[in-house]
Amino acid sequence: MHISSAIFSLLSLCIFATPIQAQAATSATAPSPQASAACLEISTGSAETQIWPAGLTNPDYEDAKNHYYSAANADLTPACAVFPTSATEVSFVVKVLLKYPTVPFAMKSGGHSPNVGFSSTNWGVLITFSKDAATAISANNATAEVGPGARWGQVIGNLTAYNVAVVGGRLVGGLLLGGGLSFLSAQYGLACDSVVNYEIVLADGSIVNANATSFTDLFWALKGGGNQFGIVTKFTLKTYPIPPMVWGGTRTYSGLDASALLNATQNFIQNNNDPKAAVIVTGSLAIENLAELFVLFYFYDGPTPPAGIFDEFDAIVPIADQVSTQSYADIVNTNDQFNIYGLRYIYRAETIPNLPGTSGTDLYNAIYNNWLAYIISQDTLLPGFTFSLGFQPLQALTAAAAVAAGGDVLGLDPGNGDRNWLIFTISWETAAGDAVADSLATILANDVVNHSKTHYAGVRNTRYKEGNLSYEEYDPIYSNDAMYSQSPYSTFAGNNYARLKAIQKKYDPNRFLATRTGGFKYT
Ligand SMILES: Cc1cc2nc3c(=O)[nH]c(=O)nc-3n(C[C@H](O)[C@H](O)[C@H](O)COP(=O)(O)OP(=O)(O)OC[C@H]3O[C@@H](n4cnc5c(N)ncnc54)[C@H](O)[C@@H]3O)c2cc1C
Ligand SMILES: *[C@@H]1O[C@H](CO)[C@@H](O)[C@H](O)[C@H]1NC(C)=O
Ligand SMILES: *[C@@H]1O[C@H](CO)[C@@H](O)[C@H](O)[C@H]1NC(C)=O
Ligand SMILES: *[C@@H]1O[C@H](CO)[C@@H](O)[C@H](O)[C@H]1NC(C)=O
Ligand SMILES: *[C@@H]1O[C@H](CO)[C@@H](O)[C@H](O)[C@H]1NC(C)=O
Ligand SMILES: *[C@@H]1O[C@H](CO)[C@@H](O)[C@H](O)[C@H]1NC(C)=O
Ligand SMILES: *[C@@H]1O[C@H](CO)[C@@H](O)[C@H](O)[C@H]1NC(C)=O
Repeated sequence: MHISSAIFSLLSLCIFATPIQAQAATSATAPSPQASAACLEISTGSAETQIWPAGLTNPDYEDAKNHYYSAANADLTPACAVFPTSATEVSFVVKVLLKYPTVPFAMKSGGHSPNVGFSSTNWGVLITFSKDAATAISANNATAEVGPGARWGQVIGNLTAYNVAVVGGRLVGGLLLGGGLSFLSAQYGLACDSVVNYEIVLADGSIVNANATSFTDLFWALKGGGNQFGIVTKFTLKTYPIPPMVWGGTRTYSGLDASALLNATQNFIQNNNDPKAAVIVTGSLAIENLAELFVLFYFYDGPTPPAGIFDEFDAIVPIADQVSTQSYADIVNTNDQFNIYGLRYIYRAETIPNLPGTSGTDLYNAIYNNWLAYIISQDTLLPGFTFSLGFQPLQALTAAAAVAAGGDVLGLDPGNGDRNWLIFTISWETAAGDAVADSLATILANDVVNHSKTHYAGVRNTRYKEGNLSYEEYDPIYSNDAMYSQSPYSTFAGNNYARLKAIQKKYDPNRFLATRTGGFKYT
């Protein structure tokens, strides 16, 4: 398909009709009287509250409204922003909201979800955790309590003195409710697998602990099931020993090395048996100058990786090399340089198998080349568009570690073998590009999945042992990377979606979360 200039102009005129903009409810220019009344009542509690329009000049309100990874969220204007620092304060906010049933609200931790309305609200109450970000280690160093607004770099920095780490994000924080893929995941599972307690405010305003002995159904559901069960006010995470110096960082390569890098990725996933090693591979194309670059994130949980593991990568000469032996906190903080603010973003997630040998390398080369060719064939894209395709290895090692750590709602099974969590990212500069970005993200991702299904149906993943080979059944979509129009939870193993849906209904019988805040829904 070729989008002509004429159609493109039409699309730009119609952007307010697209679903992503519809969530923004762009017509109102002021909060409803109910929203204003709710905000006023919330401000009588002990948590800091900043109310529109006076809040517009307040730096806390300004940060809450505007500091999102995707700038599209900052188009929305909260009626007020409240900054709770305890479960009691959140409970008070919920009880006030219950008196004003027409007022929407949003929960914001790191603000990294690009999906408009998931952690942002137009004229509703924004509950933001930026002031609840402390890390506290337990007396025996075995667990750490983390506030929902914490940043992983700071958490890991705070734990360095105790020679321990938690399984957190590689690049950002606050991702625990969607699972959490970490450099430590092949050793310890997803980040959510290491949560031992959630302090949570339920839809009726009550405060409970969900853990292995209390509210056990809720405990299970929170391990990857998202934000529709309540408002989490504290996570308690298991800690793991980490050496003072580990190996990692980024290398940047020319797009001319795409094939060699993709082949090395297939080889790494197929052959690496050391769970301390990890890599993420991202190819990107900037439309402005057609610059094609790869950025690879390397990690080894030790001062130097044993010979062999990264040899095929090491043979490819990078343009820039920032890999070194350094602290884990330094790696996490330095990787933050790729976290660029001020642009609009879409993420879309797909899951594909890692196939053996040349089936695997052919698959990666074909989907990458098709992706590139399709983008280049679009001759009417606005300047400022950048596309990237990320390969996030999800080895059977990670599934085994997830199971060993107690498991989660995704239901990963090592017997199903190795795969990749692909992430399609588009960034652009102004709202005029929203509709095109939306449609391209979907087309590009669907093409990749279709290619994988139609060319390799029935070919078994590397390390495949047993299980249903049906693509839909066993390739869970990663919710933290998913686009608002996807339904990641329905791709989880077995009858997990039905279980989650029942638990959601049980804890939200009056549909407080289901109807009044954004996020992926149980319908
Ligand atoms: C630069 C970048 C790097 C990333 N790197 C990784 C990575 O290494 N590994 C990985 O797994 N993912 C990664 N992600 C994806 C990330 O996990 C998701 O974007 C995730 O949603 C971010 O969480 P957040 O708290 O920052 O987001 P927010 O946008 O604040 O919230 C996301 C969702 O969680 C809900 N929520 C937030 N706080 C609460 C709460 N206290 N109680 C209940 N619900 C709540 C919100 O309502 C929203 O639906 C990355 C994203 C970006 C932008
Ligand atoms: C916790 O870590 C500190 C700092 O490394 C150490 O002094 C202390 O002995 C540890 N406590 C336990 C119970 O291991
Ligand atoms: C510890 O966490 C606090 C936030 O609670 C942060 O300000 C500080 O920089 C962190 N320390 C390190 C060494 O990262
Ligand atoms: C589990 O919840 C109960 C009830 O609130 C609490 O007493 C217990 O300490 C919690 N367990 C953990 C591991 O936090
Ligand atoms: C990558 O592997 C494919 C086989 O799938 C091969 O044709 C291609 O030449 C390899 N690329 C490089 C750069 O070696
Ligand atoms: C899927 O791929 C096949 C083979 O390349 C092609 O014939 C078919 O049209 C594609 N379907 C869609 C929906 O893109
Ligand atoms: C695999 O899953 C598909 C799709 O749900 C189903 O039709 C099929 O019966 C399953 N096969 C086995 C062996 O369980």
